[in-house]
Amino acid sequence: IENDSFASRLLAWFDVSGRHDLPWQHPRTPYRVWLSEVMLQQTQVRVVIPYFERFLATLPDVRALAAAPLDEVIALWAGLGYYARARNLHAAAKACVEKHDGDLPRDLDALIALPGIGRSTAGAILSQAWGDRFPILDGNVKRVLARVHGIEGHPGLPAIEKRMWAIAESQLPDARMADYTQAQMDLGATLCTRADPACVLCPMQTVCTALREGRTAELPTPKPG
Ligand code: ADE
Repeated sequence: IENDSFASRLLAWFDVSGRHDLPWQHPRTPYRVWLSEVMLQQTQVRVVIPYFERFLATLPDVRALAAAPLDEVIALWAGLGYYARARNLHAAAKACVEKHDGDLPRDLDALIALPGIGRSTAGAILSQAWGDRFPILDGNVKRVLARVHGIEGHPGLPAIEKRMWAIAESQLPDARMADYTQAQMDLGATLCTRADPACVLCPMQTVCTALREGRTAELPTPKPG
């Protein structure tokens, strides 16, 4: 049964078809993972990569970011949009210097307490930077879960979201958490896309409720009215 699990299927697919050469994967330090996750919250990978490289070259660690003037941080962000992300990043770096000895805390609640880090981003940081066993639940993951499990109801609704967090938690593998987190992002971004999913290539094709029932176009359920 283990070889048939969601996580096993996903990891086997990731080994062959996932993205293994993203700049924040080599090396996967907490600061690099955090910066990448915040940039990726509302921006696509191919747009983020040059910004990520330039930001890191200028502000290589938490202390450098905390010490930089806000203007410099905003200038490095120029073009990415959603500038609240840059202001939050700067404020969070200052908090890390003041409260966590200049490091990102390895603790879910302490991460969520930082500006700009929600539960999913905190899980993405803990899993990718340290291999800790925490789920993520962003838009891509919600789409995959809605389809594989045939979950009706808009994923933005608290009751649906709660159910999805529970499923995401229950599907976690016992090892390879960093790969598992990246694999979920990759599946949602490259195969299980909103329009026109590539189900013939998908590792979940034999277990996907939406595919079996011909409902990939209806799931996830759109926002009501
Ligand atoms: N979106 C959010 N995090 C991501 C990641 N690590 N890779 C690709 N897309 C993402």
